[in-house]
Amino acid sequence: MHNITLIKGDGIGPEITDAVVQIIKAAGVDINWDVQTAGADVIEKEGSPLPNRVIESVKKNKIALKSPVTTPIGKGFRSVNVQLRKELDLYANLRPCYNLPNVKTRYDKVDIVVVRENTEDLYAGIERQVDENTAESIKFITRQASERIAKFAFDYAVKNNRKEVCVVTKANICKLSDGLFLECAREISKNYPQIKFREILVDNCCMQLVQNPNQFDVLLLPNLYGDIVSDLCAGLVGGLGIAQGANIGKDYAVFEPVHGSAPDIAGKDLANPTAMLMSGIEMLNYIGETDAASRIKLALFETLNANIKTFDLSGNSKCSEFTQAIIERLKVLAKC
Ligand code: NAI
Repeated sequence: MHNITLIKGDGIGPEITDAVVQIIKAAGVDINWDVQTAGADVIEKEGSPLPNRVIESVKKNKIALKSPVTTPIGKGFRSVNVQLRKELDLYANLRPCYNLPNVKTRYDKVDIVVVRENTEDLYAGIERQVDENTAESIKFITRQASERIAKFAFDYAVKNNRKEVCVVTKANICKLSDGLFLECAREISKNYPQIKFREILVDNCCMQLVQNPNQFDVLLLPNLYGDIVSDLCAGLVGGLGIAQGANIGKDYAVFEPVHGSAPDIAGKDLANPTAMLMSGIEMLNYIGETDAASRIKLALFETLNANIKTFDLSGNSKCSEFTQAIIERLKVLAKC
């Protein structure tokens, strides 16, 4: 039995979370879910969008599966996601991005892993209103965080038989901050002669990704570029509905999709649970439930191949129907 924190989030969060919990249960994995609420809904009762009990729960269980939480734009509370990553020192944001079967996109054979630094950069939240007409944000980059994320990217490349790590910055303009990130990547790369090392500026990287994504393998980026480029990469392979993610630190790991709470489709049974499911599959691999993870992936792929798809992938299945189709296939696989 595994004890795992489950953060249901808001918007489409509860729908996709329920779908994934049902699928993992159907695969026979014994999990005691420690369900935690966070976000706007709990502020009134508990005074914070991320009450201490959520942090304590992840600290106790070490692993969490999290669905998206809405962050108000331009005002209101600080992002629960940013806070959680900071509090638990989840310094590496891992976003694998590859084509899924029967999901038609402009590109084939895309297989990119985005490794995003997760704790600093403009996300450090060091902002101030200088005067009525001026605001400033500090882009905060340290050697310690840059070195450890570079090391994470190279270790990941070695462990997963990747060939190249490409560091993405704007070091021609942000000479000190991005310059430091780049310098650290260069230094760390020397310890991994078996992995090719490449440098690219973020603007060129975006253009190259759109023109020829197959040239890229592992991308290593500071926080903000990592956020933006990983959405771009999701777009290359079918959109946010299928883009998985994980936040990994020394002691804890929180698995969550790349996408947000999608308020435009919340509560309508229209969400694609695939991104959350793929994040759940990676979580199962992480906790050693590799057999169940493989079966769920196979059931998901068979479902897509049977042309059962949600609306974002030009299908006509509701979230609940898509979920049931995966569960049916899991039952068949269990009998094989
Ligand atoms: P979003 O990712 O929620 O939605 C962007 C577009 O993609 C929308 O049209 C939405 O319908 C679609 N989409 C997203 N996920 C989908 C899915 N699973 N199935 C089908 N369609 C899907 O981005 P948006 O609208 O910019 O952000 C909404 C809220 O989510 C904001 O408050 C933002 O701060 C928050 N957010 C939270 C994240 C997290 O909790 N990790 C990550 C990103 C955003």
